Amino acid sequence: MRIILLGPPGTGKGTQGRFITEKYNIPQISTGDILRENIYLKNKIGVIIKNILKKGKLVSDEIVCDLIKNRIKTTDCRNGFLLDGFPRSIQQAYYLSKNQIIIDYVLYFSMPEEDILERISGRRIHPPSGRCYHIKFNPPKINNEDDLTGDTLVIREDDKKEIIKKRLTEYQKITSPLIKYYLNQKLKGKLKFFTINAADSLLKIKNIIENILK
Ligand code: AP5
Repeated sequence: MRIILLGPPGTGKGTQGRFITEKYNIPQISTGDILRENIYLKNKIGVIIKNILKKGKLVSDEIVCDLIKNRIKTTDCRNGFLLDGFPRSIQQAYYLSKNQIIIDYVLYFSMPEEDILERISGRRIHPPSGRCYHIKFNPPKINNEDDLTGDTLVIREDDKKEIIKKRLTEYQKITSPLIKYYLNQKLKGKLKFFTINAADSLLKIKNIIENILK
């Protein structure tokens, strides 16, 4: 099972991705998480990536495709994988097709912009694990502490209001053309494409996706 989660920032792709990977036992490949891991490790590439993310810009196709190439080669991807946040440009989608990486499902998360701002502004994360919470919709058991480790949760650096706006503009300009691209692939019978109403509750979306994938 090879799945792509497509949609604007803050629409719940990462959250639902975790449910899907647990249920179907396939790895969740989140380019955002991989990029943040590099920032967290403070390695050479991490410094370059940090500067791009804090401007709300997309990292180059070259860097991201390279990360994906190495990740998909690993043995845990043999039975499938979930791509969360990749592809994010037409060039990245071409990368998949050029390398004969077949996709079975594209789940497109759709939500109005005002809801997106509320979702992102309440998000808190646990950087080492990528676990993610929301102060109102998905709070941790203890205020501002990760459920498993008790570590203090943080606000993502690119979740500041002015950066969110830039990320949304990048999405409209560079990522949203992928909707048409994958709808075309669906028409050609190459994959299944579903639109998810991302404004629904966590549980409702989880059930809808389980029905789609069963
Ligand atoms: P990335 O980490 O991929 O960020 P994103 O796509 O902008 O998505 P988010 O992580 O913001 O949101 P999400 O849809 O996963 O929502 P979440 O589940 O957290 O990318 C970050 C950056 O890395 C990019 O800006 C770019 O610079 C770079 N990058 C990454 N991939 C790249 C690529 N392929 N090419 C180039 N650059 C790349 O949910 C949001 C909040 O809402 C959470 O608090 C959650 O608890 C809550 N929530 C979730 N679902 C619900 C619900 N149904 N009801 C109520 N609350 C909910």
